[in-house]
Amino acid sequence: MGRITASDIRDMKKRGEKIVMMTAYDYPSGRLVEQGGADVILVGDTLGMVVLGYDSTVPVTMDDMVHHTKAVVRGTQRALVVADMPFMSYQTGWQEAMANAARLLKETGCGAVKLEGGVRSAETVAKLVEAGIPVMGHIGLTPQSVNQLGGFKLQGKTPAAAVQLMHDAQALEQAGAFAIVLETIPAPLAEMLTQRVSVPTIGIGAGVHCDGQVQVFHDLLGLFDAFTPKHARRYADAGALIRDAVSRYAADVRAGAFPTARESFKMDPAALAELRPEGAEAIRRRHALGLDA
Ligand code: KIV
Repeated sequence: MGRITASDIRDMKKRGEKIVMMTAYDYPSGRLVEQGGADVILVGDTLGMVVLGYDSTVPVTMDDMVHHTKAVVRGTQRALVVADMPFMSYQTGWQEAMANAARLLKETGCGAVKLEGGVRSAETVAKLVEAGIPVMGHIGLTPQSVNQLGGFKLQGKTPAAAVQLMHDAQALEQAGAFAIVLETIPAPLAEMLTQRVSVPTIGIGAGVHCDGQVQVFHDLLGLFDAFTPKHARRYADAGALIRDAVSRYAADVRAGAFPTARESFKMDPAALAELRPEGAEAIRRRHALGLDA
């Protein structure tokens, strides 16, 4: 079985099949997310916050994205891997966007890129798609514009803002995006958008009527404690598991209870005997007599 493609994801909407997408940022998380059954793995620029410790996605670079996406691709065989285009890697014009998107595809082996913005990004999306690069759109709360939006807030609340989001979704559909992430918008608005566009919508904080859902690895698993977004459900407390494991390890090391013979390596008794003082003396004497030459 080959990799899931962007066109398989489009077909899932036609068949009414829900699309499961989740973020991952390295080899082990990519493997685990694929083994858990995700169709699409997003190497999101959230990596800036949940992996690299920045307070927004703005500082993430192309080199960061290439480095992490390569690792996720190496850890997966089946899922469609989508690489996020970081802040200012596509906003400056479609030519620069093309060079950066091509770099992501060529250097990492990912199957698609994602970028933020609707109407404002449509020309760029169209150029990339024309060049054969599958593009996922992203509208609503677009974290790269957090400084302009004044925080991670619900979008599309007023009729005017909701209409703008409809234009955004339609512009992305016309530009050839194969799917559109809808982030932090009212559920009824997401349902309307989902009905109005032919391409799949993937919600995060956008209600149950989207064609698919995306969640951030660390939110789902309890690995990010700076804050938990309202839209996230914690399916496991891996943070607590890890803390507990580390504290038991630390206690064992301090008590001399780790490692035991089971976690240690034996040595050939003859080789060991030569290292003991009497053995060492024998080696010295043999050496002095030139017997080792
Ligand atoms: O960067 C990211 O992880 C994202 C998701 C929140 C959709 O864009």
